[in-house]
Amino acid sequence: MHKPILIIGACGQIGTELTFELRNKYGAENVIASDIREGSEALMQSGPFELLDATDYSAVEDVVMHYEIDEVYLMAAMLSATAEKFPMRAWNLNMNSLFNVLNLAKEKKITKVFWPSSIAVFGPNTPKEDTPQNTIMEPSTVYGISKQSGERWCEYYHKKYGVDVRSVRYPGLISWKTMPGGGTTDYAVEIYHDALKKGSYECFLSSDTELPMMYMDDAIRATISLMDSPSEKIKVRSSYNLAGMNFTPKQMAKSIAKHIPDFEISYAPDFRQEIADSWPSSIDDSAARKQWGWEPRFDLDQTSAEMLKNLNG
Ligand SMILES: NC(=O)c1ccc[n+]([C@@H]2O[C@H](COP(=O)([O-])OP(=O)(O)OC[C@H]3O[C@@H](n4cnc5c(N)ncnc54)[C@H](O)[C@@H]3O)[C@@H](O)[C@H]2O)c1
Repeated sequence: MHKPILIIGACGQIGTELTFELRNKYGAENVIASDIREGSEALMQSGPFELLDATDYSAVEDVVMHYEIDEVYLMAAMLSATAEKFPMRAWNLNMNSLFNVLNLAKEKKITKVFWPSSIAVFGPNTPKEDTPQNTIMEPSTVYGISKQSGERWCEYYHKKYGVDVRSVRYPGLISWKTMPGGGTTDYAVEIYHDALKKGSYECFLSSDTELPMMYMDDAIRATISLMDSPSEKIKVRSSYNLAGMNFTPKQMAKSIAKHIPDFEISYAPDFRQEIADSWPSSIDDSAARKQWGWEPRFDLDQTSAEMLKNLNG
């Protein structure tokens, strides 16, 4: 039997699907979902849930001790677009929640931590194509600064205190079970909803903005596969580059038009364009592939087919 797992931020876009998948794999009672708010009905009914503020160390510690938690997946964060509006709140949430979990691991109250980073750790001076694992990182957003600092702290806690922390730099994630939570790649989810509801979409990024993206099933598989890998295979303790597909809004519209021929897209770039322009357009994830066997399954057309089928269903 797998030891108990705690997911913090379980009601968000990734946390919801991660909770379902881990419950499927390890049994509902072994996976404690927690968040500062309640989630979807399906999530709330699927197993144990705790209301929990990730920035409150003693509250997190209480839940960890109560359920004898072994592994924590920390998914609570303020995402890129929202963080530009509330810089100090974003820094406070993104950093303090991470310190709380890393410190619980340092004190041996938990044995393993998953914490996600993002392609937002890169900045305008990073090579844009096939961005390497190790390269210039000068993030220009509050969110990116918090993720880059988080990566440095993860590596530090691993080296200094032997904390078993594992991380991937997720690209933009596309999913249908939960709406995205205020990121720069949210258009790639909204577009499917609007395509089905209105037959058209006004995109907040320009037509040729190419960004790395991934279908949620691939992201969840990568996450669990990294956590299941033997510790000695995990050579990168900051965060792994992780790639699925790359496309522009224009290419995405074409892919949707294969299912909805009259679909129309228009463009009205807003403040998120500048954020997107500072990020890579494609990612070299060879370290993840070599070290723990990562391989994506979904391309853009498969993603469109899955999204439209499930949202229509
Ligand atoms: N979705 C993406 O495309 C993407 C891409 C790269 C990285 N990430 C990272 O993955 C993680 C999860 O992202 P997501 O898309 O699921 O985000 P989300 O915004 O959908 O979910 C975050 C969840 O955290 C919860 N939360 C906020 N403050 C909290 C607090 N103080 N205590 C407990 N819970 C709190 C929110 O209620 C929400 O349910 C984040 O670290 C994010 O930076 C996401």
